[in-house]
Amino acid sequence: METTVRENIDWVGHVDWTVRDFHSYTTARGATYNAYLVRDEKTALIDTVKEPFADGLLAGIRHFIDPAKIDYLVCNHAEPDHAGAFAAIVAACPRAKVVCNDKCRKTLSLYFDTSKWDFEIVKTGSSLSLGKRQLTFVDTPFVHWPESMVTYVPEERLLFSMDAFGQHFAFSNLFDDQNPIEDVMAEAKRYYANIVMPFGKKVASALEACAALDIDLIAPAHGVVWRSHCARILAEYNDWAVCKPKAKVLVIYDSMWDSTARMARAIQAGATKNGVDAKLISIRASDLTEIATEVLDAACIAFGSSTLNRGPMPMVAAVLSYLQGLSPSGKIGLPFGSYGWGISGAQAIQKYMEEMKWELLREPIKSQYRPSEEILGACREAGAALADRALEATR
Ligand code: FEO
Repeated sequence: METTVRENIDWVGHVDWTVRDFHSYTTARGATYNAYLVRDEKTALIDTVKEPFADGLLAGIRHFIDPAKIDYLVCNHAEPDHAGAFAAIVAACPRAKVVCNDKCRKTLSLYFDTSKWDFEIVKTGSSLSLGKRQLTFVDTPFVHWPESMVTYVPEERLLFSMDAFGQHFAFSNLFDDQNPIEDVMAEAKRYYANIVMPFGKKVASALEACAALDIDLIAPAHGVVWRSHCARILAEYNDWAVCKPKAKVLVIYDSMWDSTARMARAIQAGATKNGVDAKLISIRASDLTEIATEVLDAACIAFGSSTLNRGPMPMVAAVLSYLQGLSPSGKIGLPFGSYGWGISGAQAIQKYMEEMKWELLREPIKSQYRPSEEILGACREAGAALADRALEATR
């Protein structure tokens, strides 16, 4: 595979073709853990890979240089998908300084025995000369962890952006324009929704910091390097950071004996209008990763569950708990569901929606056992109201 990002700047990461689970994130197209070698009068390695792939990383480095000659090991982020191999790499690079911010140093010390590591602590505005090129650093807290930062090479207008702008996308060609771009964009969106969404305000701050940089190339820690579509991914991040809504209504549900499913179908039928993307999502036929991705830019979300043991169906609770952690903002919600004799599962959904500060279209629509024609009519009406609100939200 061609690994050259720029002359004497090479990708030396790992392509994980077969991974399908990344701490519960479904990685349908695999993943990559990107590390980059910058060779100048001095040499720097930008990030590492997951611990099991340390030997492959070292083999990739040896293709260009003896690891013992590396001067700097930059750690932009201490999460183990990038820093897992650090102990092995530090051992193989005895003269290298570990370059990171102070929070990252502390985090690394909670994963590894760092007592003998030679740290060079940097922060926003710090720079390091490699010779003809500089590395400059910008702290980007919570994109994705508190210690995260990005590294910029002004002479190349190149940003090593860490998790930001990443995608779980295994590739045999390094650049965005060498891959099916809509697949790459879909994975970038999925990545944002499932990894970055809780930190929208921090993303906005990071984007502001990056806006001051002249950027031609974005080299993230996952997935392809952006060279032809930088403007597009930056624009998408601006929208995703505020969960900018599209005219989209989701009807997400789980059902025990088809009563809640009938209500869901009626809501989706009501929401089916010109210009509105009205989607019916059965939780059992989908997964957490896909649902979160759909939620990111949906204006309105109806969420339904049958009542089971005085609460919602188990997978409904799992999806809501996951979404609550991701904090999708600015949604208009509609709880609904069927029940027999106990407290309605729809009430639990309402509580989750309120905790996420979603606006509720109306009180929950509930049906004891099979929904009557009157209840189904109320579902269709509520679906139509959601569609109207979705169209309004995009004007
Ligand atoms: Fe790819 Fe937050 O690690």
